[in-house]
Amino acid sequence: MNAYRAALLYFKPDGTAIYDADGLLVTTPNAQGIQEVLAIGPWPALKAGFAHVPVQHLLGRLIAPGFVDMHIHFPQVDVIGSPAEGLLPWLENYTFVQEARFDNEAHAREVADFFLDELQRHGVSTALVFGSSHTASVNALMDAGQTRGLRLIAGKCLMDRHAPDGVRDQTEQSLLDTEALIQRWHGKGRLGCAITPRFVPSCSDAQLAGAGELAARYPEVWVQSHVSENKDEIAWVQDLHPQARSYLAVYEQFGLLRPRSVYAHCIHLDDTDRQLLRETGAAAAVCPTSNLFLGSGFFDYAAADRAGHLYGLASDVGGGTSFSPFHTMLAAYVVGREGHTKTGLSLSPQQLWFQHTAGAARALGLQGLVGNLLPGCEADFVVLNPAATPLLARRSSAAQTLDELLFSLIVLGDDRAVEQCVLAGRQLSLPTIAD
Ligand code: GUN
Ligand code: ZN
Repeated sequence: MNAYRAALLYFKPDGTAIYDADGLLVTTPNAQGIQEVLAIGPWPALKAGFAHVPVQHLLGRLIAPGFVDMHIHFPQVDVIGSPAEGLLPWLENYTFVQEARFDNEAHAREVADFFLDELQRHGVSTALVFGSSHTASVNALMDAGQTRGLRLIAGKCLMDRHAPDGVRDQTEQSLLDTEALIQRWHGKGRLGCAITPRFVPSCSDAQLAGAGELAARYPEVWVQSHVSENKDEIAWVQDLHPQARSYLAVYEQFGLLRPRSVYAHCIHLDDTDRQLLRETGAAAAVCPTSNLFLGSGFFDYAAADRAGHLYGLASDVGGGTSFSPFHTMLAAYVVGREGHTKTGLSLSPQQLWFQHTAGAARALGLQGLVGNLLPGCEADFVVLNPAATPLLARRSSAAQTLDELLFSLIVLGDDRAVEQCVLAGRQLSLPTIAD
């Protein structure tokens, strides 16, 4: 059993934040040997019940759930910060060029290690990841993920048309490879697989139909793709599928909307599309740093809430500009302000934090398992130092309310504030911090 005394942030099942300024988190191994949360709450209330457990005192630190990144591209580490007029030239001029390098296994292994180090350094303990179209690169990522103990969900990118040599795959083989990856990795430790059609323009009807068949055959496996990110992309889909009611409806037609389907962006949807997400249980991955960087547009939070469909936050590296959940939450706040001018609603820091932890976990169908620290959740958590930089120390120490404290971290925080990212309770390497 492990016990940590620190300030604690976690969420009620309805999404309301709970904050214990002086709290105790107790973890214990479950039947699979993974540390999970046994108890959490105020130190004065819990300390007597756990008097027999040695407590690690982390004075001045905040323990919060490990962050959940709903959409990120492993082979795009070297694409971050590549400027382009918009999505389609960005894909053509930078992204496909970098992704083509992942047919080289040594390169894939080197980047996999770097990528997973970055996720953990930034406090991300669960991620839904796009691989390249090369099976070996996904194997490299899964291998590395298994060693580290992240909750990693990944898939080989399906793209059998409108893509250059080096990244374009073969329809039949791509589906066989996807199934082989599922059989090799899905459910192994903390790993999961995702059926990963890149987006409608890069997938033939036969490939989308095959992906839909796999999605029906493996309901526990995730589906991930992109939708309605950019106006030129949408016009292209209209040309390719003139009979479809909308871009999103193409995925529906091929059986790719269901619980555990995650669609990045969802910017230019209409309300019928949003209802379709809600009815099918599919989720949106909101990628604000990417949408701002590529000039794609603004996710409509008010419309998503009206429809009541699932959504959560994501970095979308390398269209996104940062691995940092703090940067993503800040960008989401800015994007939410766009809607604020129309609706009078603005995102609170607690909502932003929820969207990148328990809310994202719920959107992935992993509620009660990750993204939160209620009893029974796997013990993935970050130890944050609200005094990590002089300015952050100054602002956070002046905070009078939880919102003010969380806002200081969202606006001023980055990887320097993440002292530890503990995966399934693997012991802290942090010394006890006492005064
Ligand atoms: N649409 C199709 N592929 C991609 C990608 O790699 N990144 C983003 N942001 N959008 C896409
Ligand atoms: Zn993406």
